[in-house]
Amino acid sequence: MGEAGESIDTSVPHPARRYNYWLGGKDHFAADRASGDAIAKAFPIVVALARANRKFLGRAVTFVAGEGVRQFLDVGTGLPAPDNTHEVAQRIAPEARVVYVDNDPIVMVHARALLQSDPRGRTAYLEADLRDPDAILKHEALRDTLDLNEPVGLLLIAILHFIHDDARAAASVRALIDALPAGSFVAITHGTMDFSSPEGVAAYEKMFAAGGTDVRARGRQQILGWLDGLEVVEPGLTLVSDWRADDDPADRPVSDDLGIYAVVARKP
Ligand SMILES: C[S@@+](CC[C@H](N)C(=O)[O-])C[C@H]1O[C@@H](n2cnc3c(N)ncnc32)[C@H](O)[C@@H]1O
Repeated sequence: MGEAGESIDTSVPHPARRYNYWLGGKDHFAADRASGDAIAKAFPIVVALARANRKFLGRAVTFVAGEGVRQFLDVGTGLPAPDNTHEVAQRIAPEARVVYVDNDPIVMVHARALLQSDPRGRTAYLEADLRDPDAILKHEALRDTLDLNEPVGLLLIAILHFIHDDARAAASVRALIDALPAGSFVAITHGTMDFSSPEGVAAYEKMFAAGGTDVRARGRQQILGWLDGLEVVEPGLTLVSDWRADDDPADRPVSDDLGIYAVVARKP
């Protein structure tokens, strides 16, 4: 596994590998499966939500590329899965450039798969933490790949709920948005308990406090607050499976406990 492999601790569950497990991938270890099963036992909807989240990623990138954006900054890349950001974007615009960012060394090990760009476009990968947005913005790989004078599609898909500190999460979103020019877009998905009963919320809070889940659920207003000054794209903040979806609504997961919100906004 080389250098990256030395810092991988497979005895601790990791969001990227647990998500890969829920998506039906092969890149997970016993600790990831145990954590994934424990969360799915408390919230059986989580597997369907993970899959719906992944589909939203594709729809959001398609939408933003359709608006003429040719550069993407995908923070919280995850392990390669069908329809990675550059594959979706380059289907629409082969010249699209994508910078992937993740703090999981296992994603680094798989980065080669993410770097199979259409020769007309470009992809780069950098290992960094969303809690340190300056390190992302100043990174050579980003500066070499993206032109920050041109609009960028910023993707924060199923990552912000892993930052538990509210001020830190808000500051990270703000720093990245501030660095992008007018005409840029940001797409966010985020876990929420807004649809849960009070008993469900209490059970979630107990589980979170005991370390049983690392997802810090947040509410509609808090997520929209990050987008102050931006134009929220229609249909606004919705459940992830509803955002500009064209499948049968009857096939979508019903979030009566844990849900995932999705939103896309444009910087004017
Ligand atoms: C649930 S996965 C989502 C993957 C992909 N964005 C998607 O939606 O299909 C979350 C990813 O965020 C990464 N991550 C979590 N916290 C992070 C942080 N503070 N900085 C950078 N990456 C982080 C994890 O390693 C993982 O790959």
